[in-house]
Amino acid sequence: MANRDCVVVVLAAGKGTRLKSGLAKVLHRAGGRPQVEHVVRAALPLKPRAITVVVGHQAEDVAAVVAPLGANTVVQQPQNGTGHALLVARRAMGRAKLAIVVPGDAPLVGTETLVNLLRTHRHGHAAASILTAVLHDPSGYGRIVRRGDGRVTAIVEDKSTDEETRQINEVNSSIYCFTLEKLWPALAKLRPDNVHRELYLTDAIALLNQQGDVVLAEIARDPHEILGCNTRAELAEVDRLFRARKRAAVMDSGVTIYLPQSVLIDPEVQIGADTIVDPGVQLLGRTRIGARCRIGSGSILTDTVLGDDVTVKPHCLLSASRLADGTAVGPFAHLRDGAVLLEHAKVGNFVEVKKSVLADGVKAMHLSYLGDARIGARTNIGAGTITCNYDGRQKHPTTIGKRVFIGSDSALVAPVRIGDGAYVAAGSTITENVPPDALGIARGRQVTKPGWAAARRREAGKDSHRSTETQRKRKGRKGPAKKARRRKSRR
Ligand code: UD1
Ligand code: MG
Repeated sequence: MANRDCVVVVLAAGKGTRLKSGLAKVLHRAGGRPQVEHVVRAALPLKPRAITVVVGHQAEDVAAVVAPLGANTVVQQPQNGTGHALLVARRAMGRAKLAIVVPGDAPLVGTETLVNLLRTHRHGHAAASILTAVLHDPSGYGRIVRRGDGRVTAIVEDKSTDEETRQINEVNSSIYCFTLEKLWPALAKLRPDNVHRELYLTDAIALLNQQGDVVLAEIARDPHEILGCNTRAELAEVDRLFRARKRAAVMDSGVTIYLPQSVLIDPEVQIGADTIVDPGVQLLGRTRIGARCRIGSGSILTDTVLGDDVTVKPHCLLSASRLADGTAVGPFAHLRDGAVLLEHAKVGNFVEVKKSVLADGVKAMHLSYLGDARIGARTNIGAGTITCNYDGRQKHPTTIGKRVFIGSDSALVAPVRIGDGAYVAAGSTITENVPPDALGIARGRQVTKPGWAAARRREAGKDSHRSTETQRKRKGRKGPAKKARRRKSRR
């Protein structure tokens, strides 16, 4: 589907005053991506000569989003309106005959819609073709003015509407196709006769019409596709629509999602069939999930890869981690920065794993911190075990062999190695390597004092007897005197 005679121009220089934000409008995320990224991605399959993004506010940040997708940028400074933006991009368009123009704040537009608009434009030998939509509430959008025979004569901006044009509910999407040799003369005639003192691209439509050029308008099949994100409310609505689309696609591919409205899934996430996603889950970034997994409520997975048959119990935070087939984590587990669980390893509640590899069948079921550790197959990590990986200046590794048993509440002070088959006694603070099959025990020896507790209770008993005696004596002394005083005062 190459369109080598055509460039795509994305208008993305504006600030987005209505968002009341320090962040440029097109960088605000909807559906898990900056808006402008959605727009560029929608244009890519057209294989145009070039995709040129007009940038202005936070130009470098916008460029950083679109450059990896192969788009180039031109800077519009100052931003004198959508018509001015196209004039600024003129040089970058080279010898293209056609331009598809898309605003950076209409992220729901689909490739098919752009293809259809281009087809309409080519077949109709038009100078301009406008994608329009019929909206229940057209406020905020430019209105499409048609003559009696249906021909488009002008676009009237919302702020310039009168009683009559305000009633029109066919609106301008700001998505157009132009024949450039016709467009340039019209743009040269634009004047900033409006409240914002800007050159409006929309004014080019009336000018083209006056020149006797063909202006077509194609009504979008799905009016949602043209929704702009000018306000926080619109942004939320567009995000909701993206999320619903992604969930529908995921469910279609054989995944169960309970209470789907409560689940967020980023666009690049992949999920295998028969996986079950519980309410309130977020699956973000490049997360990939295998088949037959279960993701418990409240869990957030970012850039994490799960094999098949993995169980993530409720309220786990997993990021940049890899969990092999049959592993289980949680509830309340935190895996991050390159945590790796090999087959059937299990991590239980309140366990944090950072940059560590837990080999096949390792179990760390309760209250542990495992950082910069390599743990051999079938080793058991007792409750409360801590790898002390940080000495205040740098991190050190802990290496634990296969079939090791680490007793509860042990501190392993890194760098340290525990050999295959070794034991560490509960409550140990291990500062030296433990050889294979040895027992490492490093704690104060227990002292047991027979009868001590009973003696203490007896002592305590005497004390309490003594103290009640004194209390009684004191009361005895004060009691009658008080009574006498009271009697006196009554008299
Ligand atoms: C624009 C249209 C309006 C249409 C609506 C659809 C104009 C004058 N109006 O209004 O008819 O119904 O889109 O969403 O075109 N931009 C630049 N440089 C500028 C100004 C804007 O690059 O100097 C970019 C913005 O970053 C934005 C896009 O152009 O991505 C549209 O600008 P915006 O201010 O959102 O226009 P709307 O008021 O939405
Ligand atoms: Mg807009």
